[in-house]
Amino acid sequence: MPCQSKNDIPKTVKVLDIKSENPFVKTFTLDISVGAQPGQFVMIWIPRLNEKPFSVAFDDGNELKIAIAAVGEFSNAMHDLKVGDKVGVRGPYGKPFEYEDSEHLAVIGGGYGAAPLYFLAHEAVERGCKVEFVVGARNKENLLFLNRAGMLADTNVHVATDDGSEGHKGYNVPLLEKLMDEGLKVDRMLTVGPEMMMIAVSDLALKHDLPCQVSVERYMKCGFGVCGQCVVDESGMPTCLKGPVMDHKLAREQVEFGKYHRDRVGRKQEW
Ligand SMILES: Cc1cc2nc3c(=O)[nH]c(=O)nc-3n(C[C@H](O)[C@H](O)[C@H](O)COP(=O)(O)OP(=O)(O)OC[C@H]3O[C@@H](n4cnc5c(N)ncnc54)[C@H](O)[C@@H]3O)c2cc1C
Ligand code: FES
Repeated sequence: MPCQSKNDIPKTVKVLDIKSENPFVKTFTLDISVGAQPGQFVMIWIPRLNEKPFSVAFDDGNELKIAIAAVGEFSNAMHDLKVGDKVGVRGPYGKPFEYEDSEHLAVIGGGYGAAPLYFLAHEAVERGCKVEFVVGARNKENLLFLNRAGMLADTNVHVATDDGSEGHKGYNVPLLEKLMDEGLKVDRMLTVGPEMMMIAVSDLALKHDLPCQVSVERYMKCGFGVCGQCVVDESGMPTCLKGPVMDHKLAREQVEFGKYHRDRVGRKQEW
């Protein structure tokens, strides 16, 4: 049974920096470290508005970064913040990505998934890993964190866009498959992004008999296993506790993975 800890009470912290990554996503640097590992998330609170989950895009022990796409009321309110404004932060929550030192990793991201994957790649390189950073987006404008990933040691960046405006024309998973058909060998696949993309990654991992983890995001309120908002159907598994990062085989056992999710009042929403 989860219990409340000091991490479950929001700490009010200053916004130290705001950077526009592309026309839709801003990265916020907050004056706090929550000691997060790649794959974990925090709950961000704007007083008198709401509290929402966001993946940790970086935590260096002094400052926390989160990359937020403006999609609705809360995320737009975040985009309206100015340096010096304050937000509440609690966490970190959820399970991080797991891998061994010195492995050769394929990290595969779509959409804002590239943000936690940059954090993952950065840590993995420090642990002696070699990284294939495989990102996809609708078009060039939607790509995230490419330059930063390109500056990491021992990291090869592979880009795919649906319209061919940057890199390979098409999806990123067929690009990775092509590289593997041409001889690329990796020890493990780690992925964050749209569920259809993660299923394609999982299929590729099964084909090559490789370990694989995916990040399953569901509507979250408490973040630590109490409210029941984020459970997946039938198994009743709370994704905030058992995920968001989990083995791809466990994710595939959930009937709703890749098919639908539920909104704030539990209505089914097709992906
Ligand atoms: C573990 C996790 C990590 C996430 N990491 C990021 C991230 O790094 N960057 C980012 O931009 N977004 C991230 N999200 C999604 C983010 O929480 C939603 O985009 C945000 O809450 C939207 O709120 P809104 O009021 O702006 O939009 P709304 O209009 O309320 O919602 C737009 C869509 O966002 C999703 N959403 C809304 N509220 C929640 C909620 N409480 N929990 C989960 N999904 C919700 C729903 O799919 C909804 O259809 C993450 C979600 C989860 C669960
Ligand atoms: S968000 Fe409350 S149980 Fe998972």
